[in-house]
Amino acid sequence: MRKYPSTIKFVLDNKIQEIDFLKTQIKPTTTVLNYLRSLPGHKGVKEGCAEGDCGACTVVIASLNNRGELEYVSVDSCLVFLPMIHGKQLITVENLSANDGHKKVLHPVQEALVDNDGTQCGYCTPGVAMSLFALYKNHENPDKETITNALTGNLCRCTGYRPIIDAATQMFHSGTHDHFCDNEESVISLLKQINERKPPIEIIAEDQHYLKPFSLEDALLLRKQHTDALIIGGSTDVALLQTKKRIHLTKVFDISSVDELDFIVEDHNKLAIGSGTSLEELHNYTKNRLPYLSEILRVFGSLQIRNMATIGGNVGTASPISDTLPVLLALESKVRLMKNNGQRDLSLEEFIVDYRKTAIDKDELIVMVSFSKPKKSETIKSYKVSKRKDLDISSVSACFRISLSKSHTVDKILIVFGGVAAMPVRARKTEGYLTGKTWNRETVDSASQILLNEFQPISDARSTREARQLMTRNLLIKFWDETNTKTEKSIGYEN
Ligand SMILES: Cc1cc2nc3c(=O)[nH]c(=O)nc-3n(C[C@H](O)[C@H](O)[C@H](O)COP(=O)(O)OP(=O)(O)OC[C@H]3O[C@@H](n4cnc5c(N)ncnc54)[C@H](O)[C@@H]3O)c2cc1C
Ligand code: FES
Ligand code: FES
Repeated sequence: MRKYPSTIKFVLDNKIQEIDFLKTQIKPTTTVLNYLRSLPGHKGVKEGCAEGDCGACTVVIASLNNRGELEYVSVDSCLVFLPMIHGKQLITVENLSANDGHKKVLHPVQEALVDNDGTQCGYCTPGVAMSLFALYKNHENPDKETITNALTGNLCRCTGYRPIIDAATQMFHSGTHDHFCDNEESVISLLKQINERKPPIEIIAEDQHYLKPFSLEDALLLRKQHTDALIIGGSTDVALLQTKKRIHLTKVFDISSVDELDFIVEDHNKLAIGSGTSLEELHNYTKNRLPYLSEILRVFGSLQIRNMATIGGNVGTASPISDTLPVLLALESKVRLMKNNGQRDLSLEEFIVDYRKTAIDKDELIVMVSFSKPKKSETIKSYKVSKRKDLDISSVSACFRISLSKSHTVDKILIVFGGVAAMPVRARKTEGYLTGKTWNRETVDSASQILLNEFQPISDARSTREARQLMTRNLLIKFWDETNTKTEKSIGYEN
């Protein structure tokens, strides 16, 4: 006898849609993009790259927050597996206009795009419209930075961005009330209905096994029984195995709906971040508190990527170019691992053991990343060097953390680089040289010579080995320059 349901339910076109994978030919890791393109009424969504880079596939997902309200986020539907939208509302470009009984009435987003000539060939337009729609639902009068940030994940090769940005400004002129506001109560009631009972979902179909727990208890129990399943948090890394490397994912363990993993808790001394916290939630939380973390998150992927990607996933990749790792290492973070009958805390440095390899056991999950709040007297700065500012992979990233004595000598310094070795690493030789010395340009120049030879990075499409070595040296000098500027505020933890 089967133990768990194999049906997913979500709201589309204001109705609950059900997919029982045992009764269809749909494989569980079908992306939301491919599913929508198979429906007669939802072909507006487009595929450009199938890897999260172009935004042509952008849709909006609305879900209930812990206050029972709807929250709208833009996502790249090419990276979202169908079961990930269970219990949520899926909104596509076809849903934007309203019907007043006689004719279709354009949504303010669409009207503004038309008025401002915000489209030419139109291939990117459904995705652009959906990014603007998410902006419309989350802001009232956004500044230009907020508008451009909402559009960083949308490539347009012909219109140019000025008319689109103008449209984004104009769409707020008539206020922020739309037909979605009128319909919210009904959608909330449908979503509550779906989310009433939450046994795990287990789908064994089309040569795949897909597990989706909703509570931490179920997740740990199922993990014990299915240690061979591939964990997904936001799937922004894992989905590419399917869409780009064409790997058949045989067994997937989807923890994207375990709410207990989605938290940020702060006390006087410590900040703890649940592994399921999205990078955009973390970006917003850290904005006026931890500039060195929020700055690196600002240039992390695009808004669509950050809305899905989790901190647990970024740590879980153990990638040498994972952008949060240098900062988290400089903060001397700890990773909490949990299994069915226990938990342990490892320092992040112990946790990452090799190229994309971690010390996690097969029956464990990453549940939390935490660190002690730096003292106000400490200065911390992070940097990302990439070919373009947005939506690009780091050539080199770095985080520097320093505390100076009253006599301006280096009490403690941590220097961490990404992109220069098989995993993010501390520049221990350079740190050792600087410790105890006067923090002046002469010392930094000598240290930079040590740093220049401390790592033997590889050459690849993003950068040569020599350029990477120069970047490490130049970033140290930049850090010195910025900390030494008299007007520069010491960047410690700011409440
Ligand atoms: C277009 C695009 C742009 C990107 N830009 C950046 C960027 O600027 N900087 C950057 O660093 N990365 C970037 N990435 C990579 C990716 O988005 C990040 O690594 C992201 O943080 C992964 O998080 P996720 O939740 O989506 O992970 P997933 O894809 O779900 O998982 C990643 C890995 O972590 C494991 N994992 C996830 N959660 C857990 C858990 N709780 N316990 C144990 N293991 C777990 C998975 O098994 C998998 O091995 C980009 C990706 C794309 C597609
Ligand atoms: S198809 Fe390009 S981001 Fe999804
Ligand atoms: S209108 Fe042609 S790609 Fe944007």
